[in-house]
Amino acid sequence: MTDERKAMIASLINIEGVGKDELAELISVPPTRDNGDYTLPCFRFAKALRKSPAAIASELAASIKLPAGDVIRVEAVNGYLNFFTDRKLGAIRTIEKICAEKFSYGDSDEGKGKTVCIDYSSVNIAKPFHIGHLYTTVLGGSLYKIYSKLGYKSVGINHLGDWGTQFGKLIVAFKKWCNKEELDRRGMEVLTEIYVRYHTEAEIHPEMDDEARAYFKKIEDGDEEATELFNLFKEITLREVRKIYERLHITFDSYNGESFYNDKMQPVLDELEEKGLLVESDGAKVVELEKYGMPPCLLVKKDGATLYATRDLAAAYYRKQVYDFYKCLYVVAYQQNLHFRQVFKVLELLGKDWAKDMVHVAFGMVSLEDGAMSTRKGKVVLLKDVLDRAVEKAYDIISNKNPDLENKRVTAEKVGVGAVVFSTLYNNRIKDIVFSYDKVLNFDGETAPYVQYTNARCLSLMEKVGGYDAAKADFSGIDNPESEAVAARLGGFGEVLRECIRKYEPCYLARYLVDLCKDFNRFYLAHRIAGEKEGIKNARTMLTAAVHCVIEEGLRLLGIDAPPKM
Ligand code: ARG
Repeated sequence: MTDERKAMIASLINIEGVGKDELAELISVPPTRDNGDYTLPCFRFAKALRKSPAAIASELAASIKLPAGDVIRVEAVNGYLNFFTDRKLGAIRTIEKICAEKFSYGDSDEGKGKTVCIDYSSVNIAKPFHIGHLYTTVLGGSLYKIYSKLGYKSVGINHLGDWGTQFGKLIVAFKKWCNKEELDRRGMEVLTEIYVRYHTEAEIHPEMDDEARAYFKKIEDGDEEATELFNLFKEITLREVRKIYERLHITFDSYNGESFYNDKMQPVLDELEEKGLLVESDGAKVVELEKYGMPPCLLVKKDGATLYATRDLAAAYYRKQVYDFYKCLYVVAYQQNLHFRQVFKVLELLGKDWAKDMVHVAFGMVSLEDGAMSTRKGKVVLLKDVLDRAVEKAYDIISNKNPDLENKRVTAEKVGVGAVVFSTLYNNRIKDIVFSYDKVLNFDGETAPYVQYTNARCLSLMEKVGGYDAAKADFSGIDNPESEAVAARLGGFGEVLRECIRKYEPCYLARYLVDLCKDFNRFYLAHRIAGEKEGIKNARTMLTAAVHCVIEEGLRLLGIDAPPKM
């Protein structure tokens, strides 16, 4: 919607040598409406036209014939060309459009033909799914959905951490203290337990490490027993994490993890060698990056073992080849900044022009008030426990607020899990978050329950008046500032989604939903629906229905359910 309007406005403007698409790109929505509904900054044309931006803006303003579409006024102010639209007409159009398109409102085909690979969640096999994975999982999951809505082909990749000496250790531990039956019965819990025990005992019996190394070598060499156990650990871990993905509405198109690249690294290493980029250093092979202010990128250890970075290089090649991506995102904690800068730089040195399409979408840490965690010592906050606890609390709150509600358990799951997800996505991703149950579950805060509750309110209002008849709407019923504010917000939905992918920040959508709810609740306090004349009632119910559609779709894009009643 917004983009169609930008295109329409662009069609009114003629600047020599500047295409309409380019103009539409440059047109933006100013933060306050005093400067119009749309604005075109004229600064960048000054050089080519050899005129001041102010003069350009004035001349353009004078040349535009009005009214055109819903544009009713054009003003030149300090080098900006500001467009004012007929807001009443705009509001009506927006509401009618949403009521017609429902949840597909905001869909676009602007990403058509473009594939975006999103590497997210990327859990480590045989390690617990802890709260540290929350950010990457929900952030990546949301970007996946937003890209798809805008017409891109999203490819979700779970780059499993399924390689490394710890698998040798696990085999040793498993053989000493566990068996298949127990593993199947107790799952991840026992895997973590024996892993922790291994580390305690290996301190006293360092020879265990030799044994572990030997087992790891066996996995590398494809030994049957070792491989079978390795696959078993993988299956047990995935069984557990899949349950969490289901609760978070997360899906993947590929589970190709680190081990998948075992046989795909050599060609990359060969190419590096050919291009003279790979140098020996203390018996190891590295790419020197000193010139770029980085330590060397270590790719092959002295003993011939490859590294995390080697696998990421092979994975990048593979993704480019298989998906021919437009962008390849890595939703990974900021602690890995250097790693990705190194990998991207090496690709650039290899002459891959697509290195510029790789993006590290970094984020901060999530923690509970009680602080740090370490798998080796077994002190971790499991994501499952956090979700369960939030759901329990949500259940208590709901039972208190609405004791007669049916399906309280189902609703509590949606509210509790939604609250955790929403609070994670509400902040700029680079910020560390310290998580508080009371805060994320506050029904009056900037939270999922607040947004979900507003949606349920919309639905109950619609139900109370028995829906609407669009043909019999009297739009004078929404001719008031509160309705106009709601409609203007609704009209900005598509723009918000674009902002989310421009910055890789679903937080814009989360905040937008809170603002929309605030706008709607202001409208709801100021205007009646039931009891009004038929036409007015219809128009206001349409506004309510439009809000409901956008909230529900917005929540879905964040990976959150919208319970019909709360
Ligand atoms: N498994 C890694 C970790 O937990 C994250 C992997 C991210 N993806 C990648 N292609 N390096 O730290």
